[in-house]
Amino acid sequence: MTHEEALGDLELAVLRCQNCRLGNIRRQAVFGEGNPEARLVFIGEGPGAEEDRQGRPFVGAAGQLLDKMLSAMGMHRFQQVYILNAVKCRPPNNRTPLPDEVEACRPHFDRQLAILDPAIVVLLGSTALKAVMGSEWRITRARGQWIEQDGRWWMPTYHPAALLRNPAWKRDVWLDLKRVIDKYRELVDPNHDTPHYPRP
Ligand code: URA
Repeated sequence: MTHEEALGDLELAVLRCQNCRLGNIRRQAVFGEGNPEARLVFIGEGPGAEEDRQGRPFVGAAGQLLDKMLSAMGMHRFQQVYILNAVKCRPPNNRTPLPDEVEACRPHFDRQLAILDPAIVVLLGSTALKAVMGSEWRITRARGQWIEQDGRWWMPTYHPAALLRNPAWKRDVWLDLKRVIDKYRELVDPNHDTPHYPRP
């Protein structure tokens, strides 16, 4: 089975999932999107209002910023990357997903990552970091440093929604994303280029 076929099967299960309370209040589950063969995956928190309406990840204000960040990296969401969320259904009033909601979604999330099998994963914000590494992790301490685990390279950084609230953090995030570009050139495509961060 190709990644695309396996993701398609998993998406059908996610779209009818009732593992937690969010299944009753969502408009639709948001599975994720991108290149099924991507070696680089971005993990967010969970759908907001616009994502819940469209059934696509990162299509609201934070998503527009994420697209700009990708563009600065010389990347596009349907080409070099795949984007998914730790939690597939919108929590009410955009609150942070509760730990039991993250646990309920974990089988989907683990399977999705296993199918994609990326070399590099960017963890966007605290929920994604805690979902993968454990509840004791802190984004302010972990950001910017590679975690090598389960055969992948994980880079925690701030969530784009946090950057909309704290634009001064963009500088740190660009440092983190440059490290991701370095790793992408090392592991995936030595010729990957972007005018914003030319190859040495
Ligand atoms: N924030 C997220 O974490 N995910 C989305 O899909 C949209 C906003």
